[in-house]
Amino acid sequence: MDLSPLDEAGIALAVSSAIAAFESASTLEELKEARLTHSGDGAPITQANMQIKSLEKDQKPVAGRLMGSARKEIQQALDLATARIEALNEERMLAEEMVDVTVPTRRAPKGARHPLNVLLEDVSDFFIGMGWDIVEGPEIEHEWFNFDALNFGPDHPARQMQDTFYVDGVETVASDGSASDQVEQPGLVLRTHTSPVQSHTLLSRGAPVYIACPGKVYRTDALDATHTPVFHQIEGLAVDKGLTMEHLKGTLDHFAKAMFGPEAKTRLRPSFFPFTEPSAEMDLWFPLKKGGPGWIEWGGCGMVNPEVLKNAGIDPEEYTGFAFGMGIERTLMLRHGIADMRDMVEGDIRFSLQFGTTGRGN
Ligand code: PHE
Repeated sequence: MDLSPLDEAGIALAVSSAIAAFESASTLEELKEARLTHSGDGAPITQANMQIKSLEKDQKPVAGRLMGSARKEIQQALDLATARIEALNEERMLAEEMVDVTVPTRRAPKGARHPLNVLLEDVSDFFIGMGWDIVEGPEIEHEWFNFDALNFGPDHPARQMQDTFYVDGVETVASDGSASDQVEQPGLVLRTHTSPVQSHTLLSRGAPVYIACPGKVYRTDALDATHTPVFHQIEGLAVDKGLTMEHLKGTLDHFAKAMFGPEAKTRLRPSFFPFTEPSAEMDLWFPLKKGGPGWIEWGGCGMVNPEVLKNAGIDPEEYTGFAFGMGIERTLMLRHGIADMRDMVEGDIRFSLQFGTTGRGN
């Protein structure tokens, strides 16, 4: 039976059943269904509303008021239910999409430049800043450059096998394919220091020259806390007219301050190298030395031996020079309080990462 727009009780029932349906809906789809049933085009309340226009004139206002307030109530209940379900949806979404920032992620391992390489670059930058050139030489070196050119006598102990890696001779193969026992001695060594770059450069450039030569060097030492068979040096060489030991000392002090801070200074102790005369061991004043500030050995230096200049065709009457060389590993160990050489050569990323992931220029 159709609902009459004047049936107050019937209308109240339609309203309360609509409200109950809206309230029990828990999704927007269920609510939509309830809305179509209770206030859609085919709903009794909608039908009743359409009948108002065919009522007697005096009945219209009564029916209008009844229907108006009924439809208003239904609409309010619908709005309320919509808001309730939307809030519920949002809550559910927030819960489902919550990001737990404490969950461990899959980390791509980050690389790091080795602190020795970074330090080598920093040291090179220092010399570039003084207007010196950076020169590199070969790591497989002619014996002549590694020793003879630097005034090592034929019987100098450093030539002996315990210090120097000699490069094997090449076995020659006879024309019938059999290995001949004749072995060509190439006279090649893995350079034991960066000093041969001095002779290469003096020969190719002549004087005057101001160069720093960073690079790897090799000695037949077993790896332990204070030795490694492969390490790095930086060589300095200045050849010009009128250079004296004062220039050497000033350069070393300047270098020491750049590496170790304004308190740093150097001291020279008499020593011997075949390629310098006079020669000296260079000590560094090291404020952070274990057990209190003090002197610590940093490298070797001296005035370029006239024989070295002569071997490169430079007149020692016209030119003088100074040279020095120090270990980069030792410099890094002093600067950062590294106690064991092996930490620097093992290639464990955790060691390098402590110095940061990038060096200068990256
Ligand atoms: N080449 C020397 C060494 O390896 C260091 C050095 C360089 C000494 C230049 C004097 C001059 O011990």
